[in-house]
Amino acid sequence: MASFLNDHPKTHNCGALRKSDEGQSVSLTGWVNNRRDHGGCVFVDLRDRDGLTQVVFDPTMNKEAFEKASQLRGEFCIGVVGKVSSRGGQDNPNMATGEIEIHADELEIFSTSETPPFLIEDGIETNEALRLKYRYLDLRRPELQKKLRIRSKASQAVRSYLTGNGFDEVETPFMVKYTPGGARNFVVPSRLNPGSFYALAESPQIYKQLLMVSGFERYFQITRCFRDEDLRQDRQPEFTQVDIEMSFIDEVQLQTMIEGMLANVWKHTLDVDVPTPFLRMTHEEAMEKYGCDKPDLRLDLQLCEVTKPAANSGFKIFEGVVAKGGIVKCLCVPGGNSLSRKQMDELTPFAKPYGIAGVAFARVQDDLSWKAPFAKVFTDEARESVNTISGAKPGDTLLFVADTAKKANTCMAAIRLHIGDLMNLTRHDEFRFMWLTDPPLFEYSEAEGKWASSHHPFTCPRPEDEDKLLTDPEHVLARAYDVVLNGVELGGGSIRIHRADLQSKVFEALGISKEEAQQKFGFLLEAFQYGPPPHGGIALGLDRLAMLMTGAQSLRDVLAFPKTQKGTDLMSEAPTPVDAGQLEELFIQNTALPNKEEG
Ligand code: AMO
Repeated sequence: MASFLNDHPKTHNCGALRKSDEGQSVSLTGWVNNRRDHGGCVFVDLRDRDGLTQVVFDPTMNKEAFEKASQLRGEFCIGVVGKVSSRGGQDNPNMATGEIEIHADELEIFSTSETPPFLIEDGIETNEALRLKYRYLDLRRPELQKKLRIRSKASQAVRSYLTGNGFDEVETPFMVKYTPGGARNFVVPSRLNPGSFYALAESPQIYKQLLMVSGFERYFQITRCFRDEDLRQDRQPEFTQVDIEMSFIDEVQLQTMIEGMLANVWKHTLDVDVPTPFLRMTHEEAMEKYGCDKPDLRLDLQLCEVTKPAANSGFKIFEGVVAKGGIVKCLCVPGGNSLSRKQMDELTPFAKPYGIAGVAFARVQDDLSWKAPFAKVFTDEARESVNTISGAKPGDTLLFVADTAKKANTCMAAIRLHIGDLMNLTRHDEFRFMWLTDPPLFEYSEAEGKWASSHHPFTCPRPEDEDKLLTDPEHVLARAYDVVLNGVELGGGSIRIHRADLQSKVFEALGISKEEAQQKFGFLLEAFQYGPPPHGGIALGLDRLAMLMTGAQSLRDVLAFPKTQKGTDLMSEAPTPVDAGQLEELFIQNTALPNKEEG
C-alpha cells in the first residue's frame, strides 16, 4: 500500500544535516516547532528528539507543498521530503543545522494539534502542575528529553558493567509478604484470599539474600521499589534501585566494585573521569565536621565543636545548654565579616524550623578579639580556646548553635550549606563521591521506647562490637556504608549477618522475640539453616543518580511520569476511589471481613 512513510522512509534526524550534505534529497519527520511566513515563503522549524531543521516551502519550487504548508500550526506532526540547500549566507550559528535548510518538495500532515497549553521549549516559567497535567507535551521539550536520555544511557552502562563483571540479573516479586510494623508499605488486597493483603516490595532485600543462599554469588536488578513515605525533592513513592548483592566479599571488595561501576557510568554517560578509590569517612567524623551523614564535599567549610570552652565561658546561654547535656557547635566562616548584619540576623529565622532558638555570631577582629553582643561576658580564655579550635583568623565570622547534639548538628549542617551558597563557595561543577562508613547499628526510637535498626535487622555489627550488643547497644557500630555524592545519599548497603547465633542476639537487642522473628522473617531464618554464604550488598537510587548526573533539582525531572509531593499523578488523576463492586469483591469497606464476627 502506498503511503508517505513507505515511499519516503525517514533518512535523517532533525539535528543531523550539515553543509556537507548539500544537494542531498532527504526525508524528515517531526513536529512543527514554529511557522513563519515571509517573502512569500513559509518557513518551518521542524523538531524531533535530535534537534531542529529549517524547512522552506517556496511556491516557485513546489506550489502544492507551499499551499499545504499554509495550514501548518505549532505541534502539527508532519513528514517532509526535500533538498538540502545552503542558506546562502543567512546561517544561524545558534542552531546545529544552522548552515542548511530543506527546500521542500512534498509535505505530509500526519496529524494536526490543538494549541498547546505552554510553549514546547526549554527554560519556560510555566507552573509545574500544568506541566505535569500535560506531561506528554512537557516531555517533548529538549531539556527533559536530554535528561531522560542521559538516564537511559546510565542504566545501560550499569547493566553492561555488572554483566561484564559476572553479575546475573534476576527479577524478584513486587507483591510480597506484608510485615506488620513496616508502616511504609503500600498494600494490595488479594481477591483470591479474601481479607488478606500483599505488600508492594519496598526493596528486594530478603529475596536478594535468599539468592545468595541459592548460590547466585553475584546478583543485580534494576528494579522498582514502593514506599509510602513523606515525599521530598529526592523521594518518590515508586522509585528505581540498582540493587546488588555479592557473596564471599568484604566491604572494601564490594565498595571497589561499586566505585568501578560508578566511574564507568560517569565516563560512559558524561565522559567525566571520576577518581577512585573514593574518600572514606566514618559516620562519627562526618557528624563532627559536617553535622550530617551525607556531607557535600564540594564545599570546604567544616564545623567544629566548642562545647568544652563554652561550658565555662561566662555566656549563660551556652553554659545552660552544656549543663543540660547539650553541645555547642561552631562554624568559622573565612572572610565572613563581609556578610552583612542583615544576612547574620536572617540566620535565626533560618534555624527556627530545626527547633533552634537562635544563631549566635561573633566577628573576629584584627587582634582576634570578637565583636559580638556577648563578647563582654565571654572570658578571654574561652575565646582563645574557641579561636584555636575553629582556626579563626582576623576577618572571619564565627557562628554558634547550642542545643542537643542532634538538633545542633542538623541545623549547623544546613547553615553550612546556606553559607556556602551565600558566599558562592560551593563548586557546583564537581562530582564529589565518598563512602560513609561505620554508622551506629541501632538508633533509639522515642516513639517505640526501644532500640531500632538504623538500616535493617540483618546488618552485621563490627566484630569488635559484638559483645556490646546487649550491654551497650548505643555504641555498637555496623558494617554498613552509604555512597554519598554532592550531599545526597546515592546508595546504602551492608555486610549481612549469616550466623544464626549473631542474628538471634541482634533480634534480642532489638526486643524482637523468637516468635515475632519467626512470624516476620521465618522463611529467611529457615533458609539460613542451610549453609548461607557470607554476603553483603548495596542498593543505589537510579533516580537520584540520574538527578545528580543531569543537574536536575528534583527527581521529577528524571522520571517520565512522576508523582507530586502528595503522591498524585496530575495527568491520569491517580489515585481515585474504587468502584463499590470491586471493593465488595475484595472484602474492603462497608463489607464485613469473612471471618469477622458480628457484635
Ligand atoms: P535504602 O533504603 O537505603 O536501602 O535505599 C537505597 C537507596 O535507594 C534510594 N531511595 C529512594 N529514592 C527515591 N525515592 C525514595 N523514596 C527512596 N528511598 C530510597 C536512595 C537510597 O540510598 N535494601 C537496602 C539496600 C541494601 O542494604 O542492600 C535499601 O533499600 O538512593
